[in-house]
Amino acid sequence: MNTLNTQLGWRYATKRMNGKEVPQEKLNAILEAIRLAPSSYGLTPYKVLVIKDMELRKKIQPAAWMQPQIVEGSHLLVFAVWDNITEKNVDDYMNLVSTTRGMPVTALADFKKYIMGTVDGLDQTGKVTWAAKQAYIALGVGLSAAALEEVDSTPMEGFDPAKLDEVLGLKEKGLKSVVMMAIGYRDVATDTSAGYKKVRRAKEDLFVNM
Ligand SMILES: Cc1cc2nc3c(=O)[nH]c(=O)nc-3n(C[C@H](O)[C@H](O)[C@H](O)COP(=O)(O)O)c2cc1C
Repeated sequence: MNTLNTQLGWRYATKRMNGKEVPQEKLNAILEAIRLAPSSYGLTPYKVLVIKDMELRKKIQPAAWMQPQIVEGSHLLVFAVWDNITEKNVDDYMNLVSTTRGMPVTALADFKKYIMGTVDGLDQTGKVTWAAKQAYIALGVGLSAAALEEVDSTPMEGFDPAKLDEVLGLKEKGLKSVVMMAIGYRDVATDTSAGYKKVRRAKEDLFVNM
């Protein structure tokens, strides 16, 4: 059985992929893990665009320094945060909690107050930064899930968000791209980094026991 740590040792930020398609059930498992990722208050202030269309990926590539994984992978996931967090967003979430847990929305008044307290204390840049932190947690969960499914992946910040937003029409959707994740299968013949030893700081250097 693949344990998480074995698979985290197996995965690497894949630079070259072989174009093979990730089967739907594996894609679904990765997306479900992303859906189950935690976020502050559970608000999930982002969307994940799941892009398979090759023509669209070709248009994205120039906005991402022509990184090959974008077109050599099977799918490209774009994590895009809400460009604002409004009271309506919070009310929609309260309604979701209410229907999911079968409780009256009035019982959630204090919960809403806590969330609004956080949101109202942030300017728009602060809200986007806060939302991005949540999206990165989902990215991390997605990378781990892909590894467990033996699907290769690349977390990608190497792109121009303004250009990508333009290609994807994200402004009109009230979204801002923050990070991407290419998924597919490594091409060991062309990916020199496939054989690299993993570099990580030593336990003694990373963990501070107190
Ligand atoms: C948020 C984030 C953004 C990254 N952006 C890119 C990227 O644009 N292109 C790329 O090839 N690798 C990218 N990487 C991969 C890192 O360089 C890589 O994870 C790191 O060197 C550790 O190596 P490993 O993941 O192969 O173990 C990114 C990683 C993270 C976490």
